[in-house]
Amino acid sequence: MPTVLLINGPNLNLLGSREPEIYGSTTLKEIEEQVASTLKKHEINCKTFQSNSEGELIDWLHEQREADFLLLNPGAFTHTSVGLRDAVLGVGIPFVEIHLSNVHKREEFRHQSYFSDIAIGALAGLGVKGYLLAAEFAVDFIKQKESSQSSS
Ligand code: DQA
Repeated sequence: MPTVLLINGPNLNLLGSREPEIYGSTTLKEIEEQVASTLKKHEINCKTFQSNSEGELIDWLHEQREADFLLLNPGAFTHTSVGLRDAVLGVGIPFVEIHLSNVHKREEFRHQSYFSDIAIGALAGLGVKGYLLAAEFAVDFIKQKESSQSSS
């Protein structure tokens, strides 16, 4: 069964209560359940991970290097982490970058991302829907890969 990783960076464990006017009221557990159920309908396994520590995120990603696709909200590490960028490049898993808020409408330091130029695509400002759209994209991506492998 193909595997999709869902990784959330620092402070996203506080979703639901953290600045709800910016990030909404859905908890991280609810987001993880919704993404996993979208993927399950297509017989795709979902592994989720959240950490506030850059090293833990990097180590976990290294351990999951066989996965087929990555849904990544790097949180504040979006704007700071060459280490996490290098880890994503190092494992070579195709990925979509997700942000609940529209980072381009916010403070200038949030306009810079260490991930957008290496992602297949990025979704920002669509709230929880962004995660679900990215999960649907992952389904299409994996199906296309499977059909091109079976025809070759
Ligand atoms: C975020 C945007 C980041 O700038 C911020 O540091 C976050 C969340 C988002 O989902 O909108 O923690 O990635």
